[in-house]
Amino acid sequence: MLNIVIFGAPGSGKGTQSERIVTKYGLSHISTGDVLRAEIKNGTDLGRTAKQYIDQGQLLPDELIIDILASTLDGLKDSKGVIFDGFPRTIAQAEALKQMLAERGQAVSVMLDLDVPEDELMKRLLLRGQQSGRADDNEETIRKRLTVYHSQTAPLIDWYKKEGLYAHINGLGELERITTDICAAIEGK
Ligand code: AP5
Ligand code: MG
Repeated sequence: MLNIVIFGAPGSGKGTQSERIVTKYGLSHISTGDVLRAEIKNGTDLGRTAKQYIDQGQLLPDELIIDILASTLDGLKDSKGVIFDGFPRTIAQAEALKQMLAERGQAVSVMLDLDVPEDELMKRLLLRGQQSGRADDNEETIRKRLTVYHSQTAPLIDWYKKEGLYAHINGLGELERITTDICAAIEGK
């Protein structure tokens, strides 16, 4: 089983690169952000709760998102592994993921840290906001998302370094070059 954590700040390319590598490795893709946006679209209770956090650029409470992740994982069809996109985002979530996989006789294979300078992140997300209009892609909410990333999510870099699973990826530049670097990191593990 190949279980990949794709990690990075908002706009670093987690979703874009996940799409490019799922087929190549026969993986399932879980994006917690996509799961939540689908709930919002379907007007569920969970969607209504999620919207309050997403619109403020804040993270959902750990217990709630961990439950969502667990049931999404249980609902997956057979695959050669999973790419986790946007989860974990806190140390508590990383510990929960480790335990959840251990209960299934599995583990995280590698954590890919897509590293992109902040001015480029802002540029990408503002552009997407103009084009496709994700509700949280406006300057004020993007700034909050970046602050939350630095305070709550970036500490996972050291956590995964200690686990011996960390791989740095330069996330700035051509999509194809980034994908090549990701594949090298996956195959080097
Ligand atoms: P989530 O949906 O995960 O959003 P995010 O982390 O803010 O990241 P994005 O999806 O915006 O960016 P991405 O890294 O996927 O980049 P993308 O490939 O799209 O989370 C949204 C919200 O949900 C959170 O704020 C929180 O409220 C909640 N949530 C989700 N998970 C949670 C959790 N675990 N715990 C608690 N709450 C949670 O690329 C971005 C743009 O850049 C695109 O337009 C793309 O075309 C472009 N682009 C990509 N690569 C390149 C490149 N190399 N060069 C130029 N442009 C590029
Ligand atoms: Mg995404």
